[in-house]
Amino acid sequence: MFPKHIELTKVPPIKIQGIKTKLVPFIAASIYWDDNGTYFEPFMGSGVVGFNLQPKKAIFSDTNPYIIQFYKDLQNIIITPAIVREFLEEETLKLMATPADKNSYYYEVRERFNKTHTSLDFLFLQRSNFNGMIRFNNQGKYNVPFGRKPERFKKALITKIVNQVAWAQDLIVNHDWDFLCIPFEEAFSMMKPKDFTYLDPPYIDRYDGYYDAWREDYAVLLSKLAQNGPAKYAFSMWYKNKYRENEHIKLWSHGKLLTTEHFYHIGAKESNRNPMIEALVVNNFE
Ligand SMILES: C[S@@+](CC[C@H](N)C(=O)[O-])C[C@H]1O[C@@H](n2cnc3c(N)ncnc32)[C@H](O)[C@@H]1O
Repeated sequence: MFPKHIELTKVPPIKIQGIKTKLVPFIAASIYWDDNGTYFEPFMGSGVVGFNLQPKKAIFSDTNPYIIQFYKDLQNIIITPAIVREFLEEETLKLMATPADKNSYYYEVRERFNKTHTSLDFLFLQRSNFNGMIRFNNQGKYNVPFGRKPERFKKALITKIVNQVAWAQDLIVNHDWDFLCIPFEEAFSMMKPKDFTYLDPPYIDRYDGYYDAWREDYAVLLSKLAQNGPAKYAFSMWYKNKYRENEHIKLWSHGKLLTTEHFYHIGAKESNRNPMIEALVVNNFE
């Protein structure tokens, strides 16, 4: 049953730019849904929202095939916490034996991943790259640079990642959840009246390097599918900051606008702390 009170948000093993960790309690408290249909998250990214909401039945989807493969591998017990530990321990030794520059072992793994696309390499790259970014060039090659000092890839970090894998796997095998590599339109074609969908598409006016480029016409289509579709929805978007307001809010006039403020930093200085108002548009009135 929703709304839910979430005290402590847990973070899944694969991070992504735009991860909504900080907004999870706000989202959980803003959803009114009896959990008797299917929860759809068509832009799952890290999955932090659904993994914390923990609906009984869910379809998580994304066009990034490596995110989906990673969670399918957890679901099918192809990857386990023990396998992850062994792999990360071995790879860390190799990483530590190389310098933290362009000759880092990281780049060997990156090249290997771009040929074989294994979930373990994907996890390793995501946890040793620059800021948990997921970025691909226009040939579909993963191209995030190395971002961690090799000596920081220590036992404690490996244990943290292994625990996150164990948490995610436990949730997946104990729930009726599925993971699909499909575009959002396809997820919408599966929705029925008792369902609920949380929507967090890429930002329109920003190149963010996700697996697929996001476009204005997709944003318009998404607003139509959600507002005319059978399922209840909650749609996340940035609303305003010090400098401007998001024009696309106009597309979502059917719903109710809820807002919350958070702060972000430009650079390291505390004085560069900027407020950002985040919006959640919902049609799930109590
Ligand atoms: C803002 S991120 C989602 C972040 C997520 N809510 C979280 O907290 O981690 C947007 C996601 O949409 C995916 N995406 C981009 N275009 C898509 C499309 N046409 N259909 C489905 N997913 C898409 C990206 O791969 C990315 O994972």
